[in-house]
This record gives sequence, structure tokens and C-alpha cells, in this order.
Amino acid sequence: MHAYGYAFQTHFIDINQVTLQLPDVLFHKGDADRMERSFPPEFMRSQARPLLVIEDSSHDMTTSLAVLNFFHNWLAAGEYIVIEDGIITDMGYTEKYGGGPRAAVGALSRYPRIGNTKWTHATATGLAKM
Ligand SMILES: C[S@@+](CC[C@H](N)C(=O)[O-])C[C@H]1O[C@@H](n2cnc3c(N)ncnc32)[C@H](O)[C@@H]1O
Repeated sequence: MHAYGYAFQTHFIDINQVTLQLPDVLFHKGDADRMERSFPPEFMRSQARPLLVIEDSSHDMTTSLAVLNFFHNWLAAGEYIVIEDGIITDMGYTEKYGGGPRAAVGALSRYPRIGNTKWTHATATGLAKM
């Protein structure tokens, strides 16, 4: 983003405390399964738009879906959420991850506001266009 000259701020959530210091990145200790605890409504309303959300935490189906559920209520038309590591399905680890990220993306049909879903490439990241 810097390379393209865009002003931006990144909020990074991890269940473990991250001690890195990077320009324009705020590290939060939090649980992707409980996004509302880290990002309450007043925080979400205060964010500059557009939003780009990247979910790359546990890769469990339930966690990917929890993140989708949370951001479904906040993302507007034209904003994006990327659900990383759908490649788990191709690697045969679906059972270990309760279906994995791709199953969560597959559940997008439950969300009437989400117009279309596509994969950024054949094996890995699911990109949901809101
Ligand atoms: C595959 S790494 C990706 C980290 C980061 N996205 C990156 O590219 O460097 C997964 C991270 O998710 C964190 N994690 C696992 N389960 C989580 C959860 N429920 N909530 C938040 N973070 C979680 C782990 O501590 C780990 O640092």
C-alpha cells in the first residue's frame, strides 16, 4: 500500500501478543472467534473506508465463519474480505480443520448481501466480493 502511495492503517489481531512494531500497523491481542470483543461497534464505525479484511488465523471452518459473520455486518458494497488458505482442502486436511476456510466461504450463500464469490486462484485463497 505504501508503494502505491495510499494512506492506510492496518489492525492486526492475534490470539497471542505480538510485539512487532511496524509503521501504520496496530497489533491487538484478541480471538478471531470473538471479533466483537476486539472491534466493538464504536471502533468499527470510526474506521476509514474502504475496508479490506484478511482472515488468516486458525483456518478452522468455525473461525473463518465467525470472521465472515462478524464482518458481514460491517462491510459495504465494493469492500472485500479474503479468507486465506482454502488450499487446506487440496492438501487433504479438511477434516482436521472442521471443513476449513473453503467450507466457510461455501456458506456465503447464507448471506443475501454478498453478491458473488470467486477464488483468486485455483488452490488457495477465497475472495468474497461483498
Ligand atoms: C498462519 S499464521 C498467520 C499470521 C499472519 N496472518 C501472517 O501472515 O503473518 C496464524 C496466526 O493466527 C493466530 N491464531 C490462531 N487462532 C487464532 C484465533 N482464534 N484468533 C486470533 N488469532 C489466532 C496464531 O497465533 C498465528 O499467529
